[in-house]
Amino acid sequence: MTQDELKKAAAEAALVHVRDGMTLGLGTGSTARPFVDLVGGLVADGLNVTCVPTSEVTAAQARGLGIPLSTLDETPHLDVTVDGADELDDRLRLIKGGGGALLREKIVASASDEMVVIADASKHVEMLGAFALPIEVVQFGAQVTVGKVAAILSELKLTPDVRRREGNDGPFITDGGNFIFDCHLERLPNPEELASALEAQTGVVEHGLFLGLAARAYVAGPDGVKELTA
Ligand code: 5RP
Repeated sequence: MTQDELKKAAAEAALVHVRDGMTLGLGTGSTARPFVDLVGGLVADGLNVTCVPTSEVTAAQARGLGIPLSTLDETPHLDVTVDGADELDDRLRLIKGGGGALLREKIVASASDEMVVIADASKHVEMLGAFALPIEVVQFGAQVTVGKVAAILSELKLTPDVRRREGNDGPFITDGGNFIFDCHLERLPNPEELASALEAQTGVVEHGLFLGLAARAYVAGPDGVKELTA
């Protein structure tokens, strides 16, 4: 199976959580995309759901499929959010934000009764950290903030290799108007410790560590789709 087929298999497995009348959070990325397509197909067949997208890209996709959309202000409680991940471990701790949507993704997941992760097996790791951890930083004074982030990483004995994410035409800018800096850590033995330190740092809007948020994951590999629970 190709990686795209595995992503689709994981997306299909998560459909079991979609029922008529639900409020749903729609994730972002190449694994969430087929899930949104599948929800669009069900809506075309008469499913009644209200969805909150986690990015402008997902909003445009969902709109194109005729999926009824709402905002968290109008729909503050969601039954389920289904989203991809860049890495997940056995405890369903995640690194997210490879697509730059981590802030909205975390807000939407936090407003949901359940966050369900869909991924191909390459994302399932023993220890987080090989995928560079994205952090979203306010543009104003970004170099000062990032200097402080590098100091935090050094203090925690992590590699202080922090690089601004670039787009096609200059720095990558998030839906919220901020920069993304990717922290190339290689290994992250204690994600909770780093998450707390980053949350205390002024100028850091959000980080891509999703800890205690995901309840369930569908991980698709050559032998089928495995269900993991936190
Ligand atoms: C976007 C994300 C994505 O869920 C994550 O990057 C996984 O993406 P993909 O399914 O394309 O590998 O966090 O901000």
